[in-house]
This record gives sequence, structure tokens and C-alpha cells, in this order.
Amino acid sequence: MPELIVVLERDEIDRRVARMAARISADYRDRELVCVAILKGAFIFMADLMRRLTIPVRIDFLRAASYGNGTASSGALSLMADIGVDIAGKDVLVVEDIVDSGFTLSRIVEHLKAKGAESVRVCAMIDKRERREVDVVVDYACHVVEQGFLVGYGMDYAERYRELPAVYHLKF
Ligand code: IMP
Ligand code: MG
Repeated sequence: MPELIVVLERDEIDRRVARMAARISADYRDRELVCVAILKGAFIFMADLMRRLTIPVRIDFLRAASYGNGTASSGALSLMADIGVDIAGKDVLVVEDIVDSGFTLSRIVEHLKAKGAESVRVCAMIDKRERREVDVVVDYACHVVEQGFLVGYGMDYAERYRELPAVYHLKF
């Protein structure tokens, strides 16, 4: 059985998400912000983040799957469900669980810009640097790690561990 080692406790996640929400609320004051969460991994992060924002927002979801049941990226973005909200002329904030190679994110950012968004920025629970291949900017990150496979707080390994309230390092 793989071993789970705590990376971020629940309380620490709360503090970091609150701090990020305060920054985002200040940065987007008097703007029309649309938060687009990437399913499934970002669903918990999105729910916590948006309840900490002090500005009005619209939300939507986009479902991408670039991973199979393992930890290796295929590099290709497949869109399983697109957003429905009109983002033309709006400021968009992509809400992602974890940025790894950056392929998924860079393609999503291009996709949203092509829909006419005024601006597209990215916030991620985890910015993982080890395997970054595409030069994407993570504008807001709760936590930066160099390496390792993380689970919990929405993040999975082969669809497991999403329900865990803390973030763990999965050691094989
Ligand atoms: P990228 O395209 O390589 O940046 O892959 C990003 C996506 O892969 C994330 O949205 C996650 O769904 C998944 N992913 C990458 N690293 C991890 C990890 O450490 N734990 C869980 N999911 C991960
Ligand atoms: Mg994801």
C-alpha cells in the first residue's frame, strides 16, 4: 500500500486559501470576474475559494482530462465539457488543483482567450515545478512544491483520495 504523508493540514489550507482570496478580491475589485474551475480536481478548492472572496463573481466549470489512471501526462488536452457562461470581454480566473507539466493549463488558457476573455489569469492550489515543460504563469498559488505526487483536497490518484480534507504526498 502507498504511504500518505501530510503536506498541508486542513487549518493551513484554510489560512492559505483565505489569504489568496483576499489578494484576488483586491486585484479584481470593480471588475467582472468569472472563475472557471477545472474539473474534477479543483471542485473543493473552488468551493472554498469563492466563499472567501469579497467581490461578486460568476462561476463555471470546464472538464478536461489529460491523464489516464496514472501519474504521467499525455500532453494532449481533451475537453469533456466546456463552459457555458459568456466570457467575452470578462476577466477570467482559472481555478486549478495542481499545475505540473503545464500542458493542460496552457491549452485551457488559449481556449479561454479564444473565446474573447479580456484577461486570463491562473490560480492553483499547488504549483509543482519539477516537470514543468510549458512556460505558464501561475499568478496565484497556495503552495509550491518541487516534486512528488500529491493527493487529497480534490486531487486524486486513479480517482482515489479526493475526499481527504488535507493535502498528502503519496509515496509509492
Ligand atoms: P499538467 O498538464 O501536467 O500540468 O497536469 C495537470 C493535471 O494533472 C492537474 O490538473 C491534475 O489533475 C493532474 N496532476 C498533476 N500532478 C498531480 C499530482 O501530483 N496529484 C494529482 N494530480 C496531479
Ligand atoms: Mg486537474
